[in-house]
Amino acid sequence: MKKIKADPAPAPVPTQIERARGTDRAVAELAAATHRLSMRRVRDLLPGKIATKRLVLRAPIRGDVPDLVRLADNKAIANRLARLPNPYTRADAVGFIEIIAQRPDERPYAITLNDHLIGVIGLSFVPDRLPELGYWLGEPHWGQGFMTEAGRGLIDAAHQTGRYERIGARALADNDGSLHVLEKLGFHRVGKGKAEQGPNIGKPIVLLELERPRWM
Ligand SMILES: CC(C)(COP(=O)(O)OP(=O)(O)OC[C@H]1O[C@@H](n2cnc3c(N)ncnc32)[C@H](O)[C@@H]1OP(=O)(O)O)[C@@H](O)C(=O)NCCC(=O)NCCS
Repeated sequence: MKKIKADPAPAPVPTQIERARGTDRAVAELAAATHRLSMRRVRDLLPGKIATKRLVLRAPIRGDVPDLVRLADNKAIANRLARLPNPYTRADAVGFIEIIAQRPDERPYAITLNDHLIGVIGLSFVPDRLPELGYWLGEPHWGQGFMTEAGRGLIDAAHQTGRYERIGARALADNDGSLHVLEKLGFHRVGKGKAEQGPNIGKPIVLLELERPRWM
């Protein structure tokens, strides 16, 4: 007996609401892609190397792995940061150099003294936030003005691009050392919040901002 082919079911016609949702999604995706592109452009204006009086800031390299592991594997540092693994292993250091440092929304610099990494400083580019300064320094090097010097070097370089009108930062409310560094760099407190991730999730934080000086 001859089989009668059934007509294929007609494709469902999207309702007006579904069409509007599709358009909203496309607009949101386009806005996110445009934002990513403009962040990458702003990030790429930063110089590859920044020299200060005692330090050189440059991209982290594979040769930094031993110094990174030796200095970053420290609870006194990890407890102050949202994103530093603890314990900190060789795999973490390699992942930082090969993956995190290559991301379009990150611009980390190795802080080097006499060609050795002594810490890390950088800017992160999170959507809907100001470019955000973050840093840590190996404990043997604390208290010698290194972070203030590195921070000033990076901020001056950012301002010289003419594209960093405002830079943000956040620190745990009880991180007096870091708050002091930020205020020495000219940041001012603009609000309070709660840590969103890491070992101190939910603890009070201070939000800070720095505006580009008019003369730069
Ligand atoms: C915070 C940190 C970066 C400071 O680095 P550093 O090179 O020692 O900083 P500097 O020497 O440039 O400046 C520190 C300033 O804070 C002061 N300070 C340090 N600890 C302090 C404390 N507990 N309370 C108040 N002031 C403090 C110092 O006296 C110095 O000020 P001064 O130059 O007026 O004397 C370093 O301790 C660190 O890496 N800590 C762990 C990670 C961290 O907290 N990262 C920041 C997350 S927001």
